[in-house]
Amino acid sequence: MLKIGFIGPGSMGSFHVRSLKALAKEEDIEVTDIADVRQERLDWAKTIWPNAKEWHDGDELLDNADVDVVWVTTPSYLHARFVIKALNKGCHVFSEKPLCLSEDDVRAILEAKRKSGKKAMVGMVVRFMWPYIKLKEIVDTKQFGNVRSIVMQRLSGNPHWSWNDWFNDEKKSGSVVMDLHIHDVDLLKYIFGDLKIEHVTATKYKDTGMINQIITTFDIGDAKAVVEGVWHHCLKFPFIPSYRVEFDDACIIYDASKGERIYWTNWNNEDGYFEQPKAEFNEENKEANMNISDMGAYYIEDKYFIECIKEDKENEIASLESASESVLLCLKEYELAKKSAK
Ligand SMILES: NC(=O)c1ccc[n+]([C@@H]2O[C@H](COP(=O)([O-])OP(=O)(O)OC[C@H]3O[C@@H](n4cnc5c(N)ncnc54)[C@H](O)[C@@H]3O)[C@@H](O)[C@H]2O)c1
Repeated sequence: MLKIGFIGPGSMGSFHVRSLKALAKEEDIEVTDIADVRQERLDWAKTIWPNAKEWHDGDELLDNADVDVVWVTTPSYLHARFVIKALNKGCHVFSEKPLCLSEDDVRAILEAKRKSGKKAMVGMVVRFMWPYIKLKEIVDTKQFGNVRSIVMQRLSGNPHWSWNDWFNDEKKSGSVVMDLHIHDVDLLKYIFGDLKIEHVTATKYKDTGMINQIITTFDIGDAKAVVEGVWHHCLKFPFIPSYRVEFDDACIIYDASKGERIYWTNWNNEDGYFEQPKAEFNEENKEANMNISDMGAYYIEDKYFIECIKEDKENEIASLESASESVLLCLKEYELAKKSAK
């Protein structure tokens, strides 16, 4: 049995805590230890994993618990600390994105991974989301020819829900650049490989001065990509990821606010939709208090990582190494954004 230590079952962590519970039905895994600095989150996590031991800090869990795998879903500035400690302890480790917030931490994490020889994965969950998997397939198969241009957006209201409002402290979250925008940059790197920053423009919050909008133009070989990430002032601003991609022969549009399907139209005046296939799993899991298909990509990424560990297979989708490259690229954008921001 794989014994899992879980650190930081907050908003995002609650998805993983529940998806691991659902996975425990088909895989021999158990969350045996849970750590959070807030008792209320420990109490919540224990409603899903009642037999787990409680720890009051990630360090306390890592110093004492006998576990094989560690899930880290704490605020971003703590990822490097816990990922390195887990690897040094000889554990496999899953970290939420962004992997970390500095070049030094990238180096230290990669070194710890190399020395430990353990499996690791970063929650670059967009790589597991159907509209983006489909985009990669259309690009890779050249179904509509080569890509000419891409516009990607990830818009959201300010993430004010977090513990101690840590998202609004740029040293802790890396602002919208490292937190939200990194998803699309990472996805483009995953599909196209090399991206060159051509231009960065940004705006910042009037009160705190933290960057809340970034628009970057990338050179991606024969095409250009414009990528925007926003944490809007208005708290109720809806979360809207989208993309528009122009190919030699057609154009495709995905806009999450209009549903999980992709519109296509070609130069012969034909059009239609790519529809998301029905989930293979669509069952209520009472113990995990969730419907598995609603968990979608989070469940799929957790399942994938467990399989990598159990079957000793290479993590080819969201490795520590590839997620590190996305961190380094976004750090460059972040520096340029700070110079340009008004
Ligand atoms: N993949 C995605 O789509 C996605 C979406 C949202 C957030 N995230 C990422 O998930 C991470 C967590 O974000 P969130 O929204 O859940 O934040 P959150 O504040 O809701 O949760 C963080 C939890 O960590 C706990 N914590 C803080 N310090 C700790 C410590 N030393 N030891 C143990 N627990 C500690 C907090 O009490 C809290 O419960 C961030 O890195 C964020 O970028 C990813």
